[in-house]
Amino acid sequence: MILVTGATGTIGSALVGQLLARDVEVIALTRDPSTIEPRPGLTVTTEIRKADAVFLLAPPGPAGPDIDRAYLRRAVEAGAERVVKLSAIGTPDEPDPKNWHQPGEQAVRESGLAWTILRPTTFATNSLAWAADIRAGRPIPNVFGAGRQGVIDPADIAAVAAEALTTTEHGGRVYTLTGPELLSVPEQVAQLGEVLRTTLTTVDVPPTKDLFPAAIAEVALAGAKLVREGGNAIVTDDVERVLGRRPGTYRAWAEENRTRFYATS
Ligand SMILES: NC(=O)c1ccc[n+]([C@@H]2O[C@H](COP(=O)([O-])OP(=O)(O)OC[C@H]3O[C@@H](n4cnc5c(N)ncnc54)[C@H](OP(=O)(O)O)[C@@H]3O)[C@@H](O)[C@H]2O)c1
Repeated sequence: MILVTGATGTIGSALVGQLLARDVEVIALTRDPSTIEPRPGLTVTTEIRKADAVFLLAPPGPAGPDIDRAYLRRAVEAGAERVVKLSAIGTPDEPDPKNWHQPGEQAVRESGLAWTILRPTTFATNSLAWAADIRAGRPIPNVFGAGRQGVIDPADIAAVAAEALTTTEHGGRVYTLTGPELLSVPEQVAQLGEVLRTTLTTVDVPPTKDLFPAAIAEVALAGAKLVREGGNAIVTDDVERVLGRRPGTYRAWAEENRTRFYATS
């Protein structure tokens, strides 16, 4: 039995589907159970319950460490044996209370449970934020300049999480998860334009604090500057080491998800 937090989100919903497809029983945690379709093998909950292993996901932002610690404490009390924490690429190993993931990573390491930490890079799904501009025929704003990143298909993150949750082979491991190739936003947009069979353009927007929601502005600005300077130009073979196959490409993700760029809800 695996408990999945963040079960209605990008990674959590993919993970729930992959675990059910393997005939693993899943408890999905959400604040609003009406948002999850009933399925065989699936239990929906608003509280952490007893499970063999827990997938720990907090939404991005400064509340992340408190949410991680609260979920983890309840998982330990409920008798979980294993935890897999979704973190982020570049999370420092040393204590950093301002970081959104480092305190949660530390709590996981100190929990007494068998643990695995996943540090993915930027998700392919982030490009769905371009959909309104694409539909309106506007250039896509780009705060990352020519900075390249190893864009990853979220389904590969979920697949690695499923392995780490259902086997004992990944205890005490920290995986930095990336796709197979480095792409800048203009390179991603060029590939997406080919997939959507339309000409797409970008407009360079040098990052400033006011571009981002206030609660996350400081971290988002630092992240954008880092990417712009080439600081997240990282590709690893961790997905292949865990799954025994290459990670999917951005182009393949875009082919599979092309209709989502034209959906209006
Ligand atoms: N996007 C990226 O490029 C990227 C890269 C690296 C790491 N990450 C990390 O990935 C995580 C986000 O994953 P995701 O994109 O799969 O998530 P997501 O789609 O944003 O979904 C987040 C989930 O968290 C729940 N949630 C939202 N606010 C909450 C709150 N205040 N308290 C408790 N639960 C809350 C929501 O569930 P309900 O509404 O159903 O309760 C939702 O299903 C973050 O930790 C982020 O730092 C993201």
